[in-house]
Amino acid sequence: MARIKAHEPVLLLTEDRKRYLIRPKPGGVWYSHQGHLKYDDLIGRPFGQVVTTHLGRKLLALQPTTADLIQHIKRATQIVYPKDAAHLVMQLDLWNGKRVIEAGSGSGGLTLAFARAVMPSGRVYSYEARPEHQRLAQRNIEQLGLKDYVEFKLRDIAEGFDENDVDAVFLDVREAAAFIPQVQAALSEGGMFASLQPTANQVSELTAALQKGDFVEIRVEEILLRAWKPVPGRLRPADRMIAHTGFLIFARKLNPEHRFFWMDKRERRRAAEFASRESEK
Ligand SMILES: C[S@@+](CC[C@H](N)C(=O)[O-])C[C@H]1O[C@@H](n2cnc3c(N)ncnc32)[C@H](O)[C@@H]1O
Repeated sequence: MARIKAHEPVLLLTEDRKRYLIRPKPGGVWYSHQGHLKYDDLIGRPFGQVVTTHLGRKLLALQPTTADLIQHIKRATQIVYPKDAAHLVMQLDLWNGKRVIEAGSGSGGLTLAFARAVMPSGRVYSYEARPEHQRLAQRNIEQLGLKDYVEFKLRDIAEGFDENDVDAVFLDVREAAAFIPQVQAALSEGGMFASLQPTANQVSELTAALQKGDFVEIRVEEILLRAWKPVPGRLRPADRMIAHTGFLIFARKLNPEHRFFWMDKRERRRAAEFASRESEK
């Protein structure tokens, strides 16, 4: 049974479903309009128990999920939403042992999802141009006990990446299209690329750059997550939803000699005709 540890995150849920993420420090007190709660009353207890503040308000202490952590981290930038982060982890094929580059670190929201996916043997190489953003991302990752799995680098990625032969690269920067040569140099053969772009014109520029580069399986996707009201007798979608977070662009690096595998019938016939004309010359 998992127990609450000092300095590790705990999700407090109120009876009216408000959510607070706290890190209990020995001897300390949590102050809020729900009342005061001594951290020592939490530390050492199993998750899933109810605690009471000095005002008599009941709070359920739960172990936060990765999605809770992403949504509650301190931010200085827009972060990648959990729905998009989850799809990225799957499509970039991140699991224990994988090496992945991301830029920029931003607030470290996605860094945390990537680190949890590739730990303990894998690594996240997280590049950021602005020192203040890097400091915040580093702090967020350290507080979650994930620093052994992340290498932070302060650099404009126009200068390129230190790593090569990595399994995946993710770009969450403006003008991602400009950095495709650097991405190509860092990726392994068959390695995965993804980017999040908020506008359609950025997507257009990026797909054009990928088509010019050594990339196949280029896909543009969007995750629309619609919650439903779980009322059995009146089951229906919730009134509101987050309609747009960003477009996700995926591609796979491939040696141009092997493009044949990604051609449809007509493209293969044209390529064969071209090759035979060339050999007759
Ligand atoms: C939207 S934020 C990234 C948010 C992050 N994915 C998260 O989930 O917390 C974009 C970040 O990229 C950084 N950035 C923009 N252009 C960059 C570049 N050329 N090289 C490195 N970092 C860059 C910005 O400073 C900013 O912190």
